[in-house]
Amino acid sequence: MAEPDKWSRWLAETRFGGDQKAAEVQLHHLKLLRKRLLKKAGLGEGKVVLDVGAGEGLVGFGALELVGATGRVIFSDISEPLVEFTRSAAEQMGVLDRCSFVTARAEDLSAVESESVDLVATRSVLIYVDDKPRAFREFFRVLKPGGRTALFEPIDDQRMTEYSEYWRRRAWVDPDSKEGAPVKDLLERLDDHWEKRYGHVNEAMLNFNERDLVMMSIVAGFAAVHTELDLGAGPMPPMKWDTLMKSSGNPLIPTNGEVIREVFSAEELARFEQHLRPVVERGGNLWRAHGSFTWAFKAPIPAKPFPEEP
Ligand SMILES: C[S@@+](CC[C@H](N)C(=O)[O-])C[C@H]1O[C@@H](n2cnc3c(N)ncnc32)[C@H](O)[C@@H]1O
Repeated sequence: MAEPDKWSRWLAETRFGGDQKAAEVQLHHLKLLRKRLLKKAGLGEGKVVLDVGAGEGLVGFGALELVGATGRVIFSDISEPLVEFTRSAAEQMGVLDRCSFVTARAEDLSAVESESVDLVATRSVLIYVDDKPRAFREFFRVLKPGGRTALFEPIDDQRMTEYSEYWRRRAWVDPDSKEGAPVKDLLERLDDHWEKRYGHVNEAMLNFNERDLVMMSIVAGFAAVHTELDLGAGPMPPMKWDTLMKSSGNPLIPTNGEVIREVFSAEELARFEQHLRPVVERGGNLWRAHGSFTWAFKAPIPAKPFPEEP
């Protein structure tokens, strides 16, 4: 049994901050997203799906339900413990005979034969890949003629938000507001520390947008691409302080609690918590989300690529 790594630990624990209720809410939203992604994936009886960066199998197990008794899903991931996770989940579900498992990077899928799959699916994987054009070339290579991709990626590039710092700093409390004033010094130090210590970690997440994904598809050889942008902003939902402290935004960074403990003294931590706990727990201020769906077609393009809307 492979030891847990940063990817498997994040998916199992830190993305939800160990909060069962928060996990249920997020998983509900993820299943809706998966439904939207797979609706335009062209799946049906006998299709072969490659889930790249499958994680715990959210997309792959959803796809398996759409490919009938003769269809197959290949679960691939960079993380050995996650590949093992999907294997034992498939065993428990009694679907092992229709699944295979590959430990591989999106940029090097040489374990998967050329022109062997009908669909390459990913969700929130390319954000961790530095050489995205190479991953697209691999997606193109493994697809059969007439196959397609179904990708969902968060879009966090600064060209789109224009003020990534604005979002980050003001998500909970604006340091320049009356509410933020008592902890303005702490928020600013936290921001500086964040930028110096972890700013570079997010490079692969920030250096592209939905148009780049379209262009990368075309450059890799795809004959047609359709993309849908998904943008939302609204009040930040209430969150337990402990959940916030035990969670992290992605697998490459420590939890929020670990980051603030790197910066503040015990006295500063107490001031920070005393002031911000009620803000976090009542919700409010800005929450935002953006992502994009990308379906790219390897020729020949089907006459009716997507199901008719009712
Ligand atoms: C945010 S998780 C998404 C997991 C899954 N696709 C889902 O929808 O729940 C990111 C996944 O990408 C995997 N990953 C990270 N870098 C990768 C790479 N270069 N190639 C393949 N998988 C990668 C991680 O191990 C993790 O499973």
